[in-house]
Amino acid sequence: MAMIETDRLSRKFGDLTAVDSVSFNVERGEIFGLLGPNGAGKTTTINMLVTLLPPTSGTAKVNGFDIRAQPAKVRQSVGIVFQDPSLDTILTGRENLELHARLYSVPKAVWKKRIAELLALMDLEDRADNIVRHYSGGMRRRLELARGLLHRPAVLFLDEPTLGLDPQTRELTWRYIKAMAQQEQTTIVLTTHYMEEADNVCDRIGIIDHGKVIALDTPDNLERRLGGDLVCLKIKNPDLKVLERLSYVKNVEVKDGQVGLTVENAAVHLKEILSLFDNVEAVEVRTPTLNDVFLKYTGRAIREDDTDEGWAEAAWRYQAGGR
Ligand SMILES: Nc1ncnc2c1ncn2[C@@H]1O[C@H](COP(=O)(O)OP(=O)(O)O)[C@@H](O)[C@H]1O
Ligand SMILES: [Mg+2]
Repeated sequence: MAMIETDRLSRKFGDLTAVDSVSFNVERGEIFGLLGPNGAGKTTTINMLVTLLPPTSGTAKVNGFDIRAQPAKVRQSVGIVFQDPSLDTILTGRENLELHARLYSVPKAVWKKRIAELLALMDLEDRADNIVRHYSGGMRRRLELARGLLHRPAVLFLDEPTLGLDPQTRELTWRYIKAMAQQEQTTIVLTTHYMEEADNVCDRIGIIDHGKVIALDTPDNLERRLGGDLVCLKIKNPDLKVLERLSYVKNVEVKDGQVGLTVENAAVHLKEILSLFDNVEAVEVRTPTLNDVFLKYTGRAIREDDTDEGWAEAAWRYQAGGR
């Protein structure tokens, strides 16, 4: 059963089209990721789906209710963790959680157990009875997330839930969220610009850029669509004509003495490729990632500020840009 059905959902701010005719469905119990760079339209999409912002055209149904016609029903069906914390800073961490549980009528026996569980998960047990004003940014973030996971709505929206979290808490949080989707059939929509997380966590991913969903599929299928493994060769003055007769080489790009190849089944064919050149200085072979997918569709890396990429990655960035 589709828990979310968006139908040409659009939002303009003046001349800017922040969300541009977006249509997708999310099934019950599915973890659906919206992946895209800053400004892509992720938060705006979520804000419309939780009825905080009206669409300028198009509509959506959440839990079977129309966001325009039945906003109150939609609100009863959803939970949201905002990108920016919205905690009550004069209450303690525990009080924030208890207040939230009561607002959502979670039975006391259930919230007692769940609050203990979430405080432990987020490593906040020691500070649970201090007021939030004295929490660090990271602690507030973790408390916000704990609060979002406390009541179990039909659809839970998480806007950049792990932004600013340490790697360990990120990992634990994802495990908890996955278990929630599985055990309680909670439908989860999350936004992120961490590709690796989207890859590991999401059942399906919509890649969004400039307000448009430009690709939507399972992470595996998205990666497979690139047509092969990525082989990057460092060669001085390569004669690339020899590659033309190789039907398993799907694409060839060159930059700065680096040759980027898209190769079907590189494990099988690498030896033959290497045998065609006598001055290969370095070789890198890898399976495509969501970053490569993003590159293919947009010509840019998802995070232009990523600096930890290897030379092969730089070559592939060039490759996608050259199309
Ligand atoms: N309230 C607003 N007024 C004007 N422009 C906005 C508003 N909210 C978002 N935008 C613009 O809409 C675009 C999409 O923003 P947003 O949905 O926040 O992107 P993301 O969450 O993917 O980073 C951006 O260009 C942003 O500047
Ligand atoms: Mg955002």
